[in-house]
Amino acid sequence: MSTQSVFGAQWGDEGKGKIIDLLAREADVVVRYQGGANAGHTVVVGTEKYVLHLLPSGILHEGKINMIGNGVAVDPVVLLQEIDELAARGHRIGPDRLRLSAAAHAILEVHKRIDHASERWRGDGRIGTTGRGIGPAYADKAFRTGLRMADLIDSKRLRQRLTAFLAEKNALLERVHGAEPFDLEEVHAVCSRVGARLAPFVTDTGRELRRLWREGKGILFEGAQGVMLDIDHGTYPFVTSSSTGVGGIAPGAGFPPNAIERAYGVAKAYCTRVGEGPFPSELNGREADRIREAGNEYGATTGRPRRCGWLDAVALRYALELNGATGLVITNLDVLTGFEEILVCTGYRVDGRTLQDYPAERADLGDLKPVYERHRGWHEDITATRSFEELPEAARDYVEWVESLLGFPIVMVSVGPERDQVIPRPDRVPALT
Ligand code: IMP
Repeated sequence: MSTQSVFGAQWGDEGKGKIIDLLAREADVVVRYQGGANAGHTVVVGTEKYVLHLLPSGILHEGKINMIGNGVAVDPVVLLQEIDELAARGHRIGPDRLRLSAAAHAILEVHKRIDHASERWRGDGRIGTTGRGIGPAYADKAFRTGLRMADLIDSKRLRQRLTAFLAEKNALLERVHGAEPFDLEEVHAVCSRVGARLAPFVTDTGRELRRLWREGKGILFEGAQGVMLDIDHGTYPFVTSSSTGVGGIAPGAGFPPNAIERAYGVAKAYCTRVGEGPFPSELNGREADRIREAGNEYGATTGRPRRCGWLDAVALRYALELNGATGLVITNLDVLTGFEEILVCTGYRVDGRTLQDYPAERADLGDLKPVYERHRGWHEDITATRSFEELPEAARDYVEWVESLLGFPIVMVSVGPERDQVIPRPDRVPALT
């Protein structure tokens, strides 16, 4: 069986959930390796819609092992809520199906309060975070003050770690942010309660994962957010706090990097972004509204309207190159139906020059002006199309044109939110060497 990974190749919300859900059918193990409850994967199964924040998408399939790796920042309260909600809808989640890394860091209420408070300090430079405590939790991980799942399930250690942690955080909250401090006993009670419930799931996921891989099991790594939000390679500082691409797998799951055989990037046929930060091909006005409504572009986690724009082929090529993508999945092609002309950003104008490559070396990416090329649109409804040949000629040409602009094969095209609204292109999937 193969080892595959799926990553977001734009600013998140590319429709990874559905693609992961499709590929999960062939996998035995589905693994999250970074991010936290800032992610929101929407999966539609028949008439049922599921929004998952922390649970891997494979959780909706019977008989799969789902792992939350050490690189994920886990809000234990949210995780338990998700487990309970799925249970209420008939999906029993036991330790046979869900494994949680002992080394995954916990997001506590403290982190969320600091997340909100820090945004206020940033003023015009605010990131527009999801408010889920992601940045402060990863900061604590790097600062070595964080609490991990192993701490939550060990009552003696929990009190010790928590006492030191809260003393510092309360000083920060009160003296720097002018915010309410937390009561040690209350936080301890919450941590003990969630720790006790999560204890059966907690393990060394890396060791289990490597064993399953040695046994020949199919493994699927599920990325959250997107490459342009990567802490190192994204539009810093308007990024999230983890390594969102394939490079995050080895440290975030405890898995050998050379064992990852396939890496699929997922991108919409246009672009969206939530939160602040550079977005060269952003649209305003009627065209943006049209994409937003047709694509239902509202955040799965926060409900915020997403910023919308044309496909940015420069940023997308950068994301695919950076991750050594085996191929690209284009989603939401149906949203472009009805446009007379479809634009794609193929360069940036800046300082009197035109750039063909993504200028990651620039401190300020906010002044890049898009250079567009145009393609004719189509008017036919494509949502029931299941083979590439059945697509209108203009849609086929568009996909092939984007493929040539990027230099990466487009291995699937999705034409609607349902699991089966996907057009496979098996001839584009490179054989394993
Ligand atoms: P944080 O991850 O909550 O710290 O937010 C940092 C930035 O990443 C903000 O611009 C968020 O809107 C964005 N972000 C975080 N998670 C997602 C996601 O799953 N989809 C899209 N944007 C996200």
